[in-house]
Amino acid sequence: MYNLTDRSVVLGVTGSIAVYKAVDLASKLTQAGALVDVVMTREAAEFVRPITFQSVTGRRACWDMWDTGSDVPELHVALARRADILVVAPATATVIARLALGLAEEMVSLTALATRAPALVCPAMDPQMYEHPATQGHVETLRSRGVLLVGPEEGRLASGHRGRGRLSEVDTIMGAVRYVLGRTGDLAGKTVVVSAGGTQEPIDPVRYLGNHSSGKMGFALAEAARDRGARTVLVTAPVALADPYGVETVRVRRAAEMRDAVAAACGDAHALIMAAAVADYQPAEAAGQKIKREKLEGLTLSLVRTPDILAEAGRRPGLVRVGFAAESDELLANARHKLEAKGLDLIVANDITAPDAGFAVDTNRVTLLDREGGVEELPLMTKYEAAWRILDRVAERMTK
Ligand code: C5P
Repeated sequence: MYNLTDRSVVLGVTGSIAVYKAVDLASKLTQAGALVDVVMTREAAEFVRPITFQSVTGRRACWDMWDTGSDVPELHVALARRADILVVAPATATVIARLALGLAEEMVSLTALATRAPALVCPAMDPQMYEHPATQGHVETLRSRGVLLVGPEEGRLASGHRGRGRLSEVDTIMGAVRYVLGRTGDLAGKTVVVSAGGTQEPIDPVRYLGNHSSGKMGFALAEAARDRGARTVLVTAPVALADPYGVETVRVRRAAEMRDAVAAACGDAHALIMAAAVADYQPAEAAGQKIKREKLEGLTLSLVRTPDILAEAGRRPGLVRVGFAAESDELLANARHKLEAKGLDLIVANDITAPDAGFAVDTNRVTLLDREGGVEELPLMTKYEAAWRILDRVAERMTK
């Protein structure tokens, strides 16, 4: 059902100190439902033994080209043919050179040469090695062949130096794998705009009116849309979440800024999903300087309405519009009222008084109401699963 379930991922691991992160990657890919076959260089096996990978993937990890113990003859060919994606992480300068030149000298480059699956390469090395014209030339060769390079990132390296050479974080690599596998999904060719987070309406340069939205539901929707192949634009108010890989993320603060960003993104979009908790009112005027403590006592804030982004945005044929109704009472009646008032196709009703649903948690329990009067109550599930179910309904409506 999800885009990693039962997909064959061949993970090529080469000899960098960042190998320990590859163990976490192998584990997370497996937990997400992928069938992960690890191939390693001898050098990688010096850092972490194959049995470690075997334990987290439940499948044999191979590093020896001359190992005749496998029951599959020509294991590299079998893996190469089966792979839905080849991920090389961490990728050393040496393996990048071998991949560029087609030198099948050990299990990783051998499998890479034999496969036609899309490849994702995550370099990790000393910054001077990465910047060297030799490495840069090989990187360019790989790019020109359609290989996706993820990282390396800036930061502190095991050597104590700083620079661009760190292996990307496991979550980033996971996002990139999902992005690549999603390219052929049912939303390929579509543009989906998602909003997330709680807007902040300034009172003065330090204080603002805000709300408890964590952005998790909106980010899950953006990731799920990406994973089904959509070009995804995520307009988010300030949240403590990193930009998802492969999602065009626009950071805004106030409702008015969110309106402008959403309007700009909606021009050629096929769906708009407003998961953001947008302030309904903003201070009529934000003070230019920090309001002194003495002036706060008895302070009266005069509020004015913010733009209703969803009611305004893209009421045009061909744009599926989805709202959220976070309610603490009369959930379905209030949600239905909003769906009608804003002329929506679908509204996601969310009981925010339930401890396992709503703000900040990773799970949600939502009911989907559509404009034809349909009601679908979903059980408790992760926000990513809920996002997938919401997108099922959006996808249906796109073709109507
Ligand atoms: O009316 P209410 O704020 O409860 O409506 C919630 C829905 O409307 C959400 O989808 C929210 O993102 C959207 N909304 C909006 N602009 C506002 C207020 C809410 O787009 N100013």
